Amino acid sequence: MTPATQTRKDFLSVLDFDVADLERCLQLAAQVKADRSLGRHAPTADVLNGHHVAMLFDKPSLRTRTTFEIAIRELGGHLVALPADVALGRREPVADVARNLERWVDAVIIRTFSQHILLEFAAAAKRLHVVNALTDQEHPCQAIADFLTLQERFGQLRGRTIAYVGDGNNVATSLAHAGAMLGVHVHIASPEPYQLPHAVVQQATSVARHGARLRLFSEATDAVAGADAVYTDTWTSMGQETEAERRRAIFAPFQVNDELMSLAKPGALFMHCLPAHRGEEVTAEVFESDASVVFDQAENRLHGQKALLLMLLAPSAGL
Ligand code: CP
Ligand code: NVA
Repeated sequence: MTPATQTRKDFLSVLDFDVADLERCLQLAAQVKADRSLGRHAPTADVLNGHHVAMLFDKPSLRTRTTFEIAIRELGGHLVALPADVALGRREPVADVARNLERWVDAVIIRTFSQHILLEFAAAAKRLHVVNALTDQEHPCQAIADFLTLQERFGQLRGRTIAYVGDGNNVATSLAHAGAMLGVHVHIASPEPYQLPHAVVQQATSVARHGARLRLFSEATDAVAGADAVYTDTWTSMGQETEAERRRAIFAPFQVNDELMSLAKPGALFMHCLPAHRGEEVTAEVFESDASVVFDQAENRLHGQKALLLMLLAPSAGL
């Protein structure tokens, strides 16, 4: 097991971790996954006893909300599920919400719109651990589960290639950050003007290890050629609903279907963060195929986020 690295306050972005943190998080996730069958006898079953963790979601969620709730409970912590009417920044300033919560709880898990809201929240409350449960710009908890899933399938991640086809969005950003740090080549194919932001390309390039390359493509077929896994996400993210019709037309050539999968490496995996829209970003055939690991990814949200909570809240738990 990689030794504990320095304590981290927040996880607003994959970039808040260094490579050692990220690798340790994946190792810890695999360990807590293996230990889950021990139930209350698992070595981590009580490590968050006495810790209160609040969750505040400004957008819908099935996977992230459920897996964080279970993770907190299975680590012996106490959940404070804040109602959506707390509405960051609309009832009272973001910094005031943060400075209230830090008097009561140890950590807050937030799903909201702008990354700036999270940054403002975390800066206002120096004692509070803040976790990004998805913003318009990043979805770092998803990336932990994604690379845990790939590690389970491939063993060694370094040198593998993952092709992301579709919107250069929050999921693509965190995938690019983590892939680069873990030595995985990331290919991203998107139509103009939905490509990965230039700033993200620069960030990923600056944290890349073991020769990992991030490459952007305008054709899905070029991006998936020889890839070990093909990943896609919704064409219309939460908050973009009024653009749905326009996006459906623009993204149509970027659908993941059997023909596209046949251009990837034989046996290539299909990945999706979910929720999925069959007939749009992926066909029902690919979604339901043996190549699909989407429910492994969903399961691994639980184990990845348990590992993350351990790293932030119980770094000396002795694992
Ligand atoms: N993948 C994911 O974050 O799912 P939810 O939106 O349901 O949390
Ligand atoms: N890009 C999607 C991811 C959902 C988990 C969204 O932001 O809605």
